[in-house]
Amino acid sequence: MKTLLVTGCAGFIGSNFVHTLLAGGREAKVINLDKLTYAGNLANLAALQNDPRHVFVQGDIGDRALVERLLQEHQPDAVVNFAAESHVDRSIHGPGDFIQTNVVGTFNLLEAVRAYWSALPATPVMASEARPSQSSFRFLHVSTDEVYGTLSPTDPPFAETNPYEPNSPYSASKAASDHLVRAWHHTYGLPVLTTNCSNNYGPYHFPEKLIPLVIHNALAGKPLPIYGDGQQVRDWLYVEDHCRAILRVLEAGTLGETYNIGGWNEKANLDVVRTLCAILDELKPRADGEPYASQITYVKDRPGHDRRYAIDARKIERELGWKPQETFETGIRKTVQWYLDHADWVDNVTSGNYRNWLAQHYGN
Ligand code: NAD
Ligand code: TYD
Repeated sequence: MKTLLVTGCAGFIGSNFVHTLLAGGREAKVINLDKLTYAGNLANLAALQNDPRHVFVQGDIGDRALVERLLQEHQPDAVVNFAAESHVDRSIHGPGDFIQTNVVGTFNLLEAVRAYWSALPATPVMASEARPSQSSFRFLHVSTDEVYGTLSPTDPPFAETNPYEPNSPYSASKAASDHLVRAWHHTYGLPVLTTNCSNNYGPYHFPEKLIPLVIHNALAGKPLPIYGDGQQVRDWLYVEDHCRAILRVLEAGTLGETYNIGGWNEKANLDVVRTLCAILDELKPRADGEPYASQITYVKDRPGHDRRYAIDARKIERELGWKPQETFETGIRKTVQWYLDHADWVDNVTSGNYRNWLAQHYGN
């Protein structure tokens, strides 16, 4: 049985990762370290509440003593780092938390992991209970394609060899953390893997990001805000495909390498919003018979807004045989249906902190 210390599992991708990992009764144990910020919600893991394969610990990745204690106690075979501040708009309003968690937090996590890893036996020890060794241990850092900056309409998609050119406080903080992870491999030999994925969508996505926000606002009869001209392009991947890719990299990735993850699904924001409106018109038509697209509202653009992201996923496809299972059409329909079926989850996560933050910054 494998034991994984996974950070940030009460958030969007982390919670999907735990569900994917433990699906079908798979024998694995997850120690879930999460600070439970506004973005972390244990409701995402309610199905695992009494499952001994999931152990939740509330805490900060930057708390080195806590992380060292967890590593000693649970002797994980791998650490997967999802924990981060993840929303670009928030990073523009308040970059401090992004530096603290994404940069300083990752540094402290790496140091705690390095101390644990250095004390492991160099090679596997034959014993009644299989224990990790320095050669079997893995540290996988989950990152974003936003570290590469922005593309023009004619540029080729981001390859792993593209230079880092982050433009937002969020992407700069993630780029910094990627560099730390890289340096801990080159300097100390820590067995690391880094993944850089495109925009995800799917269940448990906090409704401040474009897709869940539009579904939520449409159903609430609120405006659907389009930043600028809505022609910015994002490359969308269904979250479970991202989770399966991470598991594949963990299993077979080459140490010290980075892997871009994406499903070749470039879409302009306005097209995504129109698609969501059309699916909602079909599945839950407005009481007045008007189309949801009538709620589309153009608003002021995001400062420094990256125009286009696109991922060249050929390396992970070629070297690790990973391919997405969902198309944008199947994934987006599943996602809308999930939000229609989970209105209580949306109510739960949008209460409290999130409303206060919105009121403070946007006065609504
Ligand atoms: P999220 O904001 O939904 O979840 C982040 C989780 O981390 C939350 O549960 C939060 O409570 C926790 N957290 C925050 N600070 C912490 C700290 N200091 N210590 C412990 N836990 C802390 O984010 P997400 O969208 O699930 O993203 C997860 C990771 O994937 C991030 O590293 C992000 O950069 C990366 N990523 C996201 C996307 C995307 O489209 N969402 C795409 C590529 C990569
Ligand atoms: P977002 O989901 O915040 O992800 P990211 O900024 O990390 O790509 O935004 C996706 C795209 O949608 C981005 O180009 C900004 C745009 N957007 C809007 O037009 N309106 C909105 O209300 C939001 C939240 C985003």
